[in-house]
Amino acid sequence: MDAREFGGALAWRHRAREALGSSRRRLLELLRPLPSEVLTAQHSELMSPPVWDVAHVANYEERWLLRALGQPGVTGAETDRLYDAFRNPRRERGSLPLLGVAEAFAYAEEVRGRVLRHLDALDADGVARTGALLDGGFVYGMVAQHEQQHVETLVATLQLVTSAALDPLPGAAPRPGRTGLPREVRVPGGPFEMGSDEPWAYDNERPRHGVEVPGFSIDRLPVSNRDFLAFIEDGGYRRRELWLDAGWAFREAAQLEHPLFWRRDGKRWERRRFGVREPLPLDEPVCHVCWYEADAYARWAGRRLPTEAEWEKAAAGTPEGRVRRHPWGDTPPDVTRANLWPTGGHPAPVGSFPAGASAWGVEQLLGDVWEWTASDFLPYPGFRPFPYPEYSAVFFGPEYKVLRGGSWAVAPDASRNTFRNWDYPIRRQIFAGFRCARDA
Ligand SMILES: [Fe+2]
Repeated sequence: MDAREFGGALAWRHRAREALGSSRRRLLELLRPLPSEVLTAQHSELMSPPVWDVAHVANYEERWLLRALGQPGVTGAETDRLYDAFRNPRRERGSLPLLGVAEAFAYAEEVRGRVLRHLDALDADGVARTGALLDGGFVYGMVAQHEQQHVETLVATLQLVTSAALDPLPGAAPRPGRTGLPREVRVPGGPFEMGSDEPWAYDNERPRHGVEVPGFSIDRLPVSNRDFLAFIEDGGYRRRELWLDAGWAFREAAQLEHPLFWRRDGKRWERRRFGVREPLPLDEPVCHVCWYEADAYARWAGRRLPTEAEWEKAAAGTPEGRVRRHPWGDTPPDVTRANLWPTGGHPAPVGSFPAGASAWGVEQLLGDVWEWTASDFLPYPGFRPFPYPEYSAVFFGPEYKVLRGGSWAVAPDASRNTFRNWDYPIRRQIFAGFRCARDA
């Protein structure tokens, strides 16, 4: 590291190198051990063949960390077209003339080599010429987080493979959970600063802005498999009155009777995890439920899903009116506070992370499972698309529901209280659960 890294226009360079390095390490650790027939297969119409993700990650990096920064490209329009997520729906990616496994990894390596040489050669004048893309190193953070997010998508793809057991984190020890805790935490009403202005925040997290959140109560812990089983055994999937119209229509069409990957074997419940059947772990947060299932459960429990603002206030707010980057404070995640990639390999039992509690005492907000909120994915007041409308702006609207908190397959670099994820309310292959709330 040279002296310029400690301040000035390039103070972020070390962080950029680290973030790119760790996202690539995770991608390679996950995919390198897999046979090429797994990497090239389309395992589900909801997911790309993994080899598409590899070249897409490389192409995204080529566009943003080479060409957008004035560097010559490695490939051209044809590669851009093949690996453009908007032009190629996931279900069609398996029939495209994709790069082979070795070629895709070589492409990613070639791009990364050039990117790092350019990063090393950048000087303050180059940063000044480039403008907003390099403010605080934003575009490097965007590309590193993009790769981390694809790692999670790839883990979700492996979970859909039935032909082989592909546990990406074998042998991870389960942590002891805690029981007998008060169910709810009361968060007082009042103003709250929502969103983020930090340099690597995505456009949809910006700008930080004041919101008035009335008092509410929220579950201390995510809803567990044991909790969710009570809903099933009480006829939750058969009781029309618990479901919204669209949710009931989906439940009927898809014949939903339990979370994805669950199976009843006589009196016993099992779930499939990376190709292996195991007894349902009752203390884990429920996972692989769609928004409609979460919403129906909440109604059954006499409650509702938290709004996005409530969730963020429960995670980031403090009685003194400060906001925290993570529920426990501003220090980075560690294994005592949150179950993030590559800690556990599956959600940890509810109550496993007392040290990760928020200022109000709400636990397990980051890591383990994404949490569905009641909110549609909408722009914050003062939103400006950056650096391109396809990142967030084209998704805004009532078709998508917001998820918060990140799963066990999310990397620490892409985990913070303000991070917003979004998906269709029918999606179940993602690592999503929820917790409930109610008006105070
Ligand atoms: Fe992508």
